Amino acid sequence: MPPKFEYKNVFIRQPILDPTIDGGPMDIEGIRKDFPILQKDVAGMPVVYFDNACMTLKPVQVIDAMNDYYYNFPACGGRSVHKLSNKVTVRMEESRQVVRDFLGAPESREIVFTKNTTESINLIAYSLDWKKGDRVLTTDREHNSNLAPWHVARDRFGIKHETVPSKDDHTFDIEAFKRMIGKDVKLVSMVHTSNLDGYTVPAKELIEIAHDKGAKVLLDGAQSAPHKVVDVKALDVDFFAMSIHKCLGPTGVGALYGKYDLLRGLKPFVVGGDTVESTTLCTTHFLNPPMRFEAGLQNYSGIIGAAEALKYITRIGKPEIEAHESKLNRIISEGLKDEKGLTVIGLQDWRQRSGVFPFRLDIVDPHDIAMILDETANIMIRSGMHCVHSWFDAHKIQGSARASLYLYNTEKEAKFFVEKVKGIIQQFS
Ligand SMILES: Cc1ncc(COP(=O)(O)O)c(C=O)c1O
Repeated sequence: MPPKFEYKNVFIRQPILDPTIDGGPMDIEGIRKDFPILQKDVAGMPVVYFDNACMTLKPVQVIDAMNDYYYNFPACGGRSVHKLSNKVTVRMEESRQVVRDFLGAPESREIVFTKNTTESINLIAYSLDWKKGDRVLTTDREHNSNLAPWHVARDRFGIKHETVPSKDDHTFDIEAFKRMIGKDVKLVSMVHTSNLDGYTVPAKELIEIAHDKGAKVLLDGAQSAPHKVVDVKALDVDFFAMSIHKCLGPTGVGALYGKYDLLRGLKPFVVGGDTVESTTLCTTHFLNPPMRFEAGLQNYSGIIGAAEALKYITRIGKPEIEAHESKLNRIISEGLKDEKGLTVIGLQDWRQRSGVFPFRLDIVDPHDIAMILDETANIMIRSGMHCVHSWFDAHKIQGSARASLYLYNTEKEAKFFVEKVKGIIQQFS
C-alpha cells in the first residue's frame, strides 16, 4: 500500500499570496505585453476585447504554468508516491492556498475545486440537507446558473424558491428582503455582482439580516471575484462560488468556498475515486472536505494555472483594477449618453456598474450590433440575454449588447468603441 499523502501539513502552510503587495500604478502597456492574443492581429486588425464578463484573456504566466505541468510533471496528484505525482499533489495544494488567500478564507480545506461557478452552486443545491418546504431566496436578476439549480431542487426535494424583487432603479431592495426572510428560509443564494449590468448587492448587510433569521448565504461570485476585493471572512458569507476563467485563468476550473463545518455537513455530490477513505462491497466511508467533493482525477494543469492567474490579479491589485474599469466605463457611458435611440439597461449610473456597459439601440438588434463591431473593428462584445433570460422575460426586453472591461483595456479602446457605436447609430438612422 502506498503511504497516504498527509494533507494536514499543506493546509497550515504560510500564505502564498501576500496581501501587502502593492501593485503600484497600473502599467497597462506592460500588462498588455503579457497577453499573447493582444500582440497579434486577428483578420488583419488588433483585437479590442470587451467580452470580459463572459471570459477573460490569459497571460503568458498562466499558459507557461500549465505547459510546465504537461512538459515536466504530467502525472496524477494525491494517489501515487513517485516524484512526479508528489509534485502534482504539492502544486495542487499550493493552488488551494492561493485561492484561499484570494478569497480571504481562513483555511485552505474550505476551498473545493470545481469546474466553474455553475458546478459550485449545483454542489450546494444537491448537497444541503433539505427538508420539504425549506425556502430559498434569490434576487430577480440571477444568472441561469443560480436559478435553474433551485428549480430542479424544488422539483426534486420539495423546496420553495422565491425571488426578492429589485427596486425600480434596479438596486437591491433591503426592505423587501427583510419582509421575505423568515425562519423557514434555509438559504439565500444571490448574485454578488450582476453580469447583466455590473451592479453589486450590499452583501454584508444582507448576510447579517439572513444570519439573524438563521439562514445561510451563498454568493454567486462569478463577476465579483475577478474585479472586487472579496473577503469571505469579513463578509461572514457561508458559501462563495467563482470561476477561474473569468480571472485570467484556464477554462474548466472553479472554486467553492464553504465554512468548514458547513462543508462537513453537506452530502457528497459527485462521488468516486479520491473522495473515499475506504469502501467495502456494501459501504463507502467518505473523506473529509475538500477531498470528499473532488471526485476522480482532476484538471491539474488548470488548477496549477489558476494559481498563476490569481497571483497575477493580486500583483496588480483589485482596487486598481476596479478604478481602471470605472474610468473606462465613464468614458464610454458619458461618450454615448446623448445618443438618440441608445438605452442603457439596468442600472443607469456608471459609478454603480463596475466595468459593464449594457445597452440597446432602437434601430439595431443587439446581435447585429455585436456582429458589426466585430466585423468592422474587431471590437468583441457579447449580445443576447447573457444567461439572465428570466430578467429579460420579466422586463419584456429582447436582449442587450454588453461591453465588459478588464485590466488590459485602454482609454484608446474605450474611445474607439464610442466612435464605432456612434457610427452604427448614424449608419442606421
Ligand atoms: C453572475 C454569473 N453567475 C454565474 C455564471 C456562470 O459561470 P460559469 O459558466 O463559469 O459556471 C456567470 C457566467 O457568466 C455569471 O456571470
